[in-house]
Amino acid sequence: MSPSPEQVIESQRQDWNRVAGGWEKWDRFFDEQMAFLNHRLVADARVRSGMRVLDLGSGTGYPALLATQTVGTNGQVIGIDLALQMLDAARRKATSLKLSNLTFQTGDVTSLPFEQASFDAVTTRFCLMFLPEIQKAVTEIARVLKPNAWLASAVWSAPDKNPYLKIPIDIIKQFIEIPPPDPTAPGIFRLAKPGDLAGMLQPAGLVDISEQEFLGDVQFSVAEEYFSSLMDIAAPIQNLWTKLSPTQQTEARERIIQTAGQYRKGAVIALPIAVRMVAGRKPG
Ligand SMILES: C[S@@+](CC[C@H](N)C(=O)[O-])C[C@H]1O[C@@H](n2cnc3c(N)ncnc32)[C@H](O)[C@@H]1O
Repeated sequence: MSPSPEQVIESQRQDWNRVAGGWEKWDRFFDEQMAFLNHRLVADARVRSGMRVLDLGSGTGYPALLATQTVGTNGQVIGIDLALQMLDAARRKATSLKLSNLTFQTGDVTSLPFEQASFDAVTTRFCLMFLPEIQKAVTEIARVLKPNAWLASAVWSAPDKNPYLKIPIDIIKQFIEIPPPDPTAPGIFRLAKPGDLAGMLQPAGLVDISEQEFLGDVQFSVAEEYFSSLMDIAAPIQNLWTKLSPTQQTEARERIIQTAGQYRKGAVIALPIAVRMVAGRKPG
């Protein structure tokens, strides 16, 4: 029997709280590697000075921190996430950057505790695919957007275009049987196909819907750095990893490092990523 929405939400909360320390440990690295996605989201959401922006599933603060720098001191940004420990890390960063107009609150993005038409833009990076009721969340997003305001979202595209995520999953599968995922079950690749998310924006009443597969890579100096950083932050992959015995883990780690090493380009190991950028506007 598939888990209820409440059970999914609870496991998401536990999963991401568990890896919050890893996100903080690797924060600088991933900020340097993936900041381009934040810039893309802030641009797609047409964020400008003075705006009030909502960031969904903010985790340790991306892209909320960049949105706050963009709206400036006359604007305001609110980040919402299930996982208090991820948000605690985000709050520490906001404090060190002296961003007093950025606040974070715990909550489920499926049920937004905000008035209708109360935000000038909504951003969300790598969150929507983990929701048990995505359409409900998109309807909530449309409700809180002001007329003519934009939603900009980033979700993972297909596994084959994301060796960065697929390498360890494939290698774990060499040791244990993992049943093919229910295509409607929350997970890393739940919104990977063209139209998966874009097709949910239209019923929620959004217009000018755009979708683009945005290609990039994450660069590591050595494959060990790839293995450690991914295992420290990727809660769904950690969940699979813990199903391996210690001996299997030792062997799997070696195979992951060896496979990642095949992506060396000069001084770096460049692991491709493909991100589906989906945006839409609430009609005026
Ligand atoms: C992969 S992290 C992404 C964090 C951040 N946006 C980033 O890109 O670095 C996914 C985040 O979504 C949050 N999340 C998952 N389901 C959620 C829900 N129903 N409501 C709010 N946050 C949720 C998790 O707690 C986690 O912090």
